[in-house]
Amino acid sequence: MIKHDVVVIGGGLAGMRAAVEAAERGADVAIVSKMHPVRSHSGAAQGGINAALGNTAEDTPANHAFDTAKGSDYLGDQDAIEAMCDDAPRQIIWLEHRGCIFSRLPDGRLAQRPFGGAGSPRTCYSADVTGLVILHTLWEQLERFNVKVYEEYFCTALCTEDSVGAGVVAYNMRNGQLELITAKATIFATGGCGRMYAKTTNGYASTADGLGIAFRGGVPIMDMEFVQFHPTSLKENGVLLSEAARGEGAHLLNSLGERFMFKYAPEKGELASRDVVSRAGWTEIMQGRGVDGCVLLDLRHLGREKILERLPQIRELALDATGKDAIDTPIPILPGMHYTMGGIETDKFGATRIPGIYAAGEAACVSVHGANRLGGNSLLETIVFGARAAKHACEYIKESGDVRPSERTLKAEQERIDGWLSKNEGIRAPQLRSQMNKTMSENVFIFRNEKELTKAVDDLLEIRKAFDRDVYVMDKSKTFNTDLVHAMEVDFLIDAAMCVANGALARKESRGAQARTDYPERDDEKWMVHTLAWRQDGQNPRLDYSRKVTITKWAPTVRSY
Ligand code: FUM
Repeated sequence: MIKHDVVVIGGGLAGMRAAVEAAERGADVAIVSKMHPVRSHSGAAQGGINAALGNTAEDTPANHAFDTAKGSDYLGDQDAIEAMCDDAPRQIIWLEHRGCIFSRLPDGRLAQRPFGGAGSPRTCYSADVTGLVILHTLWEQLERFNVKVYEEYFCTALCTEDSVGAGVVAYNMRNGQLELITAKATIFATGGCGRMYAKTTNGYASTADGLGIAFRGGVPIMDMEFVQFHPTSLKENGVLLSEAARGEGAHLLNSLGERFMFKYAPEKGELASRDVVSRAGWTEIMQGRGVDGCVLLDLRHLGREKILERLPQIRELALDATGKDAIDTPIPILPGMHYTMGGIETDKFGATRIPGIYAAGEAACVSVHGANRLGGNSLLETIVFGARAAKHACEYIKESGDVRPSERTLKAEQERIDGWLSKNEGIRAPQLRSQMNKTMSENVFIFRNEKELTKAVDDLLEIRKAFDRDVYVMDKSKTFNTDLVHAMEVDFLIDAAMCVANGALARKESRGAQARTDYPERDDEKWMVHTLAWRQDGQNPRLDYSRKVTITKWAPTVRSY
């Protein structure tokens, strides 16, 4: 049995930031991750991280908080939003002091670029590889503090004893053993769940692991219907072309060569919030003004030098996938699944309803993004709430007693896995994954309606039942059994997809990323509430609307850009 005071599940930005904070506070902390931390999907984050430093134009944390609340279509909890925006400048300086290589202005101060929905240029960046640069900075800090990292361990279940968090069960991918990892405090920082869709900007590892584990462990999952479609992903492979391109001045064009965004967002144009830009792009395509089913991202007027200095990666990504060089050719792009605003319900300290269980980053729903996240706020959330969750966990463990190892959960998990391995026929997980991907992509997309959402809910329930009844794992080996790990991932993804589809069907309004063609208006009378989904074995989740949105300063008003 492995034992630590604090265990962080996931080695991306939120997980590493949490672990470093706990280590700085002197806690016995470890990271458990299914991959090497610097290979985490956070490394694919391109455009930057928001903080009201005011380096290129006047700015304040209050302005940042207002933009975020407005961007969230007033569903974000404003106490949490204010906490995040107030802490942002301090966290950027914290990173900078630890060697993070941000791009700079000629006078040496940190450069900041404009991003969608922001009143000032407040996105700090490292060219267009910001996530990767921060990831390496945090990795160095983990090494500095000698934080123990259990790599290639896939967590399968949450342990609770006497209704208190007691760690996790994890599958050691190197030898096929299940192990108990006992901890007084457990922080889930496992990222998102983009792989429930057929195409996504997310890496293959974004499979709802922590979310599925917490859900099964009795923690509600919040606001999952709000799925962000990024306006600019590559048609060929779904890969992200950063909002940084538009921040640096790129245009979106339709087949008539029009900069169409000003029809939809007269003031901000291409720099409206993402939900607005994605709907606009998709509308152009649906109304016949697309180019081979896409719209175009045009960087040509930025010039070679600026593209190579500030956007080198997206030029390369586009070149590799399409053979087109953004320096002299517009790039065909589409809105693509990018981010889940929802996640494991936490308070503004990252704590869930179960003592000793925390969540941070995309796995969590604090909620600072509400119905639509602003670009540059996800990296910020990982850093601010990774640190906050760890701080709170370190305070918690000083007061809490020792926890008992959860042999009961270990035994149940062994039986579950042995059940899949003992069968030689049935359905393999990838088959069900394809069915889930299809129904999510066809029926729970940018625009939604009752008929399609009902179809998705029905399909997913059938997929859930088929999984529970018939799934089997063909590969019986103990060493790096990716067939088995993939089955566990698909199991969690189905849970996440069910939360999305059920939440979207039940919410009869349009708000942020939830655009219902049959309920096109926002309904503040009825829907200023969060959606809490509770797991029910083999059934649709039970939805509960008891958590109201916290408003501190900004009452909901008409949202336009
Ligand atoms: O477009 C981007 O660079 C993505 C940033 C984000 O999701 O915050």
